[in-house]
Amino acid sequence: MKTVAVCFVCLGNICRSPTAEGVLRAQIEAAGLQNRIIVDSAGTGDWHAGQAPDERAQAAARQRGYDLSLLRARQVVHEDFERFDLLLAMDEANLGQLRQLCPAHHRAKVRLLMEFAQQPALREVPDPFFGGNEGFEQVLDQCESACLGLLAHLSTALTDRVV
Ligand code: 4NP
Repeated sequence: MKTVAVCFVCLGNICRSPTAEGVLRAQIEAAGLQNRIIVDSAGTGDWHAGQAPDERAQAAARQRGYDLSLLRARQVVHEDFERFDLLLAMDEANLGQLRQLCPAHHRAKVRLLMEFAQQPALREVPDPFFGGNEGFEQVLDQCESACLGLLAHLSTALTDRVV
């Protein structure tokens, strides 16, 4: 059976990309597509490798019913460009870093998550790390919106055999 694989990418892999991973996992379960869509996340940096998501990201996500506690940060590796059909960056800096690392023949896999938002007014998911709690709420709002659009895209891809 065909599967598709998506990896969310931010800087530290402790705030935005694990939030997106938790949100999409919940949406995938609600849609009954657990066996068809593979989800992961990674950071362009390695400072937080091995750590659970930021406590503030976990708390904000928990309030909306997403459990991020078992996720652990890791850095992007070269095999990710082979393993995943899509590598979705949270902001332009993450996108630029990914493009530098990405082999030319996989370039089309590297995109911005917010391309999939219903109302893509914002191109980036802003980094909440140095701000207040409202930043984490905004990350959740943006991830919930974009992941719904992404899930629709992936569902079509599973049917049409195109990602
Ligand atoms: P993230 O947020 O990229 O959404 O995980 C950050 C986490 C850590 C740092 C910056 C952003 N940091 O500078 O350590």
